[in-house]
Amino acid sequence: MEYYRYRGDCLCPYGGKLPEGSVLVEEPFSPLVFLVERDPFVSRGYFAIHSLSELNEPEGINLLLPAPKTEETGALARFVEANGASVLNTAFQRAFDVMSNYRFQLQIPSRVHVVGLGNVGGTATTGLKLMGTGLKEIGIFDPNQNLCLRYEAELNQVLPARDDEQLPPVTVLTEQELFDCDAILFTAARAVPEIGAENSGDVRLMQYEGNQELLRSYAKRARDCGYCGLFAQISDPVDQLSRAVFLMSNQNEDGEFDWRGLLPEQVRGFGLGVMRARAIYTAKCDGIRAEDIRAYGPHGNGLVIANAPNEEYDERLSRALTHRAETENLKVRAYGYKPYIAPGLSSAAVSVLRALRGDWHDGAVPMAGVYFGCRARFGAQGPEVVREPLHQELIAHLTNSYSALKEFNGK
Ligand SMILES: NC(=O)c1ccc[n+]([C@@H]2O[C@H](COP(=O)([O-])OP(=O)(O)OC[C@H]3O[C@@H](n4cnc5c(N)ncnc54)[C@H](O)[C@@H]3O)[C@@H](O)[C@H]2O)c1
Repeated sequence: MEYYRYRGDCLCPYGGKLPEGSVLVEEPFSPLVFLVERDPFVSRGYFAIHSLSELNEPEGINLLLPAPKTEETGALARFVEANGASVLNTAFQRAFDVMSNYRFQLQIPSRVHVVGLGNVGGTATTGLKLMGTGLKEIGIFDPNQNLCLRYEAELNQVLPARDDEQLPPVTVLTEQELFDCDAILFTAARAVPEIGAENSGDVRLMQYEGNQELLRSYAKRARDCGYCGLFAQISDPVDQLSRAVFLMSNQNEDGEFDWRGLLPEQVRGFGLGVMRARAIYTAKCDGIRAEDIRAYGPHGNGLVIANAPNEEYDERLSRALTHRAETENLKVRAYGYKPYIAPGLSSAAVSVLRALRGDWHDGAVPMAGVYFGCRARFGAQGPEVVREPLHQELIAHLTNSYSALKEFNGK
């Protein structure tokens, strides 16, 4: 192995390209970054590892299980066990810029921009205003200018609950300012199906074509301005659109993939938070401990809720919880309202704030060519997911859910 110093990092070429200006050094030092070159369609771009065995691990649902034991016992394996490392896929043209920005953003108060101020976006912005005391600024954008003016006025008239708290200011953005931030919360939608539409199918998937078209110009702008921050996809269908925005940002004018757009880790789907919250809400009657409940997969059909991850996993209970979490939104629709308060807060405001603070949260992350919901965080060495022993029956459900998302890509 060879090691190079570059912008304060120790780069270790492992099939990936070294950037110009790298200087050979004798010993590895932290932060250590392995450079790989892997198929961008189905591979991660940037992630943390804690063992050398994770460097060559195939991608799939296995990434949610404990990492295989490393067979290497040499100095490098010991170094990674002790200090951790990152893996960067240089098939993505902007990989180094995104990694540098990622590290920088973990240390500064974030500027977040909300695009789309409808029911979900408005609720999310209210949540960010009240809970986002560490944020530098909340920018808002919607084609409906009066809606922007209304939120700017109302939210800047909110008092903090404590004297020593400072709530972030809310400002109306121009289109040119949209990507001048650390995180975009994308809650815009062309049209959310009306009450009653749920009788003809999944109200989330119905929005795919319309919202994909709406996202296209934003994906292009993210690419054109070399955006290095987070693109939090919240409008539906969250998981499929996360993949769509990642891919669209990587296409040139002729529609060819040149991988000069977003890294897959810059896009994250935020729809699982409310599903776990719904599962917790409906689990109370079964006496299940909230901290044992796990949520995986998409914000819609294919969702998997488990009462517990491993020994205490109960198939019957987990199926019931999954069904209830999946259909809880229909109850609110049956009361005559579109459900958007819990989504705007649990999936969006709370989960994005946790993500920006480097805390564990629910999100859909890139995994072998799909965005798969699980517990994840932006750790010091890069994005990572919770890895723990899982029950065989639960693994089978996760595999089916993953396959359905993969199949959707093929359509
Ligand atoms: N992630 C979750 O947990 C979750 C939960 C519930 C709903 N949702 C989804 O969130 C989305 C928004 O739902 P809603 O109830 O707020 O819808 P809504 O109709 O109330 O609001 C949509 C907003 O998008 C704006 N908009 C339209 N075109 C735009 C564009 N080109 N650029 C910027 N903004 C644009 C509209 O002006 C409107 O204010 C839907 O797709 C809905 O299914 C997500």
